[in-house]
Amino acid sequence: MRSDQARPVKLSDYHVPDHRVTNVDLLVTLHPTATRVVAKLTVERHPKGRPAAPLAFDGDELNLVALTLDGAVLAASAYEAMPDRLVIHLPPAGPFTLTIETMVNPEANTQLMGLYRSSGTWCTQCEAEGFRRITYFPDRPDVLAVYTTRIEADKAEAPVLLGNGNLVETGDLGNGRHYAVWHDPHPKPSYLFALVGGDLASTSDRFVTRSGRDVALRIYSEHGKEGRLAYAMDALKRSMRWDEEVFGCEYDLDIFMIVAVSDFNMGAMENKGLNIFNDKYVMALPDTATDQDYAHIEAVIAHEYFHNWTGNRITCRDWFQLCLKEGLTVFRDQEFSSDMRSRAVKRIADVRLLKAQQFAEDAGPLAHPVRPELYNEINNFYTATVYEKGAEVIRVLKVLLGPAEFKTGMDLYLARHDGDAATIEDFIACFAEASGRDLGQFFLWYRQSGTPEVSVEGHHDPKAGTFSLDIRQTLHPTPGQPTKQPMVIPLALGLIGPDGAERPLLTEDGQSVPGVVALTASRHRFVFTGHTTRPILSINRGFSAPIRLTTDLTEADLQFLARHDGDAYNRWQSIQTLASRFLIASTAAIARGDAALVSVPLIETLGAVLNDAGRDPAFTAQALSLPSEADIAREIGSEVDPDAIQAARLALRRTISDQLGDELVATLSGFAAKGPFAPDAAAAGRRAIANVALDLWAANGTESRLAEVERRFAGADNMTDRFAALAILAQHAGTRREAALGAFYERYGSDPLIIDKWLALQAGIAEPATLDRIKTLLANPAINFGNPNRLRALVGSFAMTNQTQFNRPDGLGYGFLVDVVLDVDAKNSQVAARLLSAFRSWRAMEPGRRGRAQAALIRVANAPSLSPDVRDIVERSLG
Ligand code: ARG
Ligand code: ZN
Repeated sequence: MRSDQARPVKLSDYHVPDHRVTNVDLLVTLHPTATRVVAKLTVERHPKGRPAAPLAFDGDELNLVALTLDGAVLAASAYEAMPDRLVIHLPPAGPFTLTIETMVNPEANTQLMGLYRSSGTWCTQCEAEGFRRITYFPDRPDVLAVYTTRIEADKAEAPVLLGNGNLVETGDLGNGRHYAVWHDPHPKPSYLFALVGGDLASTSDRFVTRSGRDVALRIYSEHGKEGRLAYAMDALKRSMRWDEEVFGCEYDLDIFMIVAVSDFNMGAMENKGLNIFNDKYVMALPDTATDQDYAHIEAVIAHEYFHNWTGNRITCRDWFQLCLKEGLTVFRDQEFSSDMRSRAVKRIADVRLLKAQQFAEDAGPLAHPVRPELYNEINNFYTATVYEKGAEVIRVLKVLLGPAEFKTGMDLYLARHDGDAATIEDFIACFAEASGRDLGQFFLWYRQSGTPEVSVEGHHDPKAGTFSLDIRQTLHPTPGQPTKQPMVIPLALGLIGPDGAERPLLTEDGQSVPGVVALTASRHRFVFTGHTTRPILSINRGFSAPIRLTTDLTEADLQFLARHDGDAYNRWQSIQTLASRFLIASTAAIARGDAALVSVPLIETLGAVLNDAGRDPAFTAQALSLPSEADIAREIGSEVDPDAIQAARLALRRTISDQLGDELVATLSGFAAKGPFAPDAAAAGRRAIANVALDLWAANGTESRLAEVERRFAGADNMTDRFAALAILAQHAGTRREAALGAFYERYGSDPLIIDKWLALQAGIAEPATLDRIKTLLANPAINFGNPNRLRALVGSFAMTNQTQFNRPDGLGYGFLVDVVLDVDAKNSQVAARLLSAFRSWRAMEPGRRGRAQAALIRVANAPSLSPDVRDIVERSLG
């Protein structure tokens, strides 16, 4: 946390730094507890800085050992060195060299920011404000410097020494010690600095760029795990090629490295030339990873690689601009995965995630704009809003401009701002210029938080032959934003005749309109002609805008769209809407004390979808995946009773199981695995539909069906099928479940990433006994819960996904999370703050749970010595 700026930090307070650093020469002598860092910095006044300002560098828990300016030791009165700040009162006017020696303790660094150790490997994480935990520095993204890093270490402890850029020198130091020097010619901000030292295994490959640069590729892991790196390498090469072909972005160093570490706060980090990854996003073999793991690895490898241009070559001026690199890079990795796999299925998966994570965030006390204007702790803004909504906003821009103008704008941005620390205004200006359009209203997507609500009513006039749409938009108040302006909302749409044929979109003056209308005001009326018979409206196709949509489509319309919509996304959405409307009604019935409802049209639709599974198995798997309990809770929006939702959903699953048994069995046998395992999208799609069918088939809990699942669990030849079967067994209490969980642990107990799956599965069991199960697991000395992945797998999954048990009516779920958060906060405040954000929907609960959640949050707020991270989340949650 920086001390030179008042809290909260405000976008409107931005000013250029008074001093900038153009060159950084580091000497890092690795030692487990006393690593010495000598930083030789070329410093100058910023021409636009305050002329007589003192030099003030950031620090965080630093220990100054020595300080010289142009080689001379500074008098004690000339400067002030505190753990979080270095001030030189009267720095020279011209450029000068500052040599700063600090001592850091990697072993004791449990925050996993700055230089720390993971399973004996020295590694770094500097985004957002970790470099200041290594040396004093103007640790802000608008200070760009050229870095040279010399690392010295014991040869046995760290035979591998890695830094940013290109390797320029290695050598022996005698006494069993050695060194390596790395030089990165591309000026970069400090958050992209990295180094690694350790005894690591690796796999190598090469990639020749389109202009002929021969790039060495290397992926490092712990010894014994190098056999699991091949898929990541393959994904990397495909990413490099794709970025050249689609965005014209070429790699710019002679080597590209990825290091997988087991202790990591986030997913991965795009350090220049030396990406550091959470090992879960690197390592995969058919026996250790599910299809979902493979897809995540492909996406994260691509994401971090794509940052080389969107993030590194063009970086952010300040942290308010985080979405400049993150939203854009998520958009790019989504496009990459769409090209590698099925575009429609990828879109559905992305929208599912967006609604589950971002819509939930937008609807609660932690809502914030894609580009925030104020923060207390920047680490708390690596959110679904900045990342996922940030990507959606780019997609909205592309829909509004069309692909050609979008590409022109993107090319202009990449050319014009290469080497800059840019802003969202810079980015949008490129598209405005390329298209000649005013993007002022579009900019509201960055400034206004909350999810726009759009309602659509269709009116058919058979005599006039018209079909008109009355559309309204509203955006409710969110924290800090009591009033809102109308947004520009592009709605892709189609009108479908009863024969299933797409009709042309003709306006009253006979003009044909392309398949998108844009809302700009709070109300609109669009009239289409040529409809003597009533068409069926398909709107927000492909989820063209990230909105909450309500329509007057009838159940019959939705059934029709589920079958006939030419837009695959909307076929899926229609089924979800049918299911969601039904589940909301059934939940209400249960809450009143009535029986769960039954829906013949919904079962019919699902049956038809199953019969059509051969068309696109991966799509069918998505279509058969019912809205989750959290999805339904979000749709209900207030006074939520998670137990009633669960009862409604379980009743529906039993009905499907009973009534569609034959169709499900046919699907199961139709998509049984053939041939050896392949992780490609087509093979994954067949496994997905088979496993969704198995899950629904077993949902009525019949002994014989569960016995079949058990048989498949024992006989599976890959992790996807084995884990899917285990997940089904886990939903049914009894000895069969416990035996399967035991067998799984027996087999994989020594493999932490697989144990994470086992932990998450148990954390999700929707039974009151789960809380005790979790406490027992948490006390298991064989599992290291000091590791963020383990903790998130058990406690994070419980709080984020187990609706009925986290939200227990007695409040014990909330109390448990608070205990864990307070305990973890002292060691790793980022992880603690993340866990605490599971309270983001507490106000939507019914009064009993709401009161208990509030009491739990107040207990956090009153705890002594909270980290700034947790303090920020708790205050905003209660605010
Ligand atoms: N820039 C990284 C990414 O690609 C995320 C790093 C966030 N780290 C943090 N400590 N907040 O998404
Ligand atoms: Zn990123």
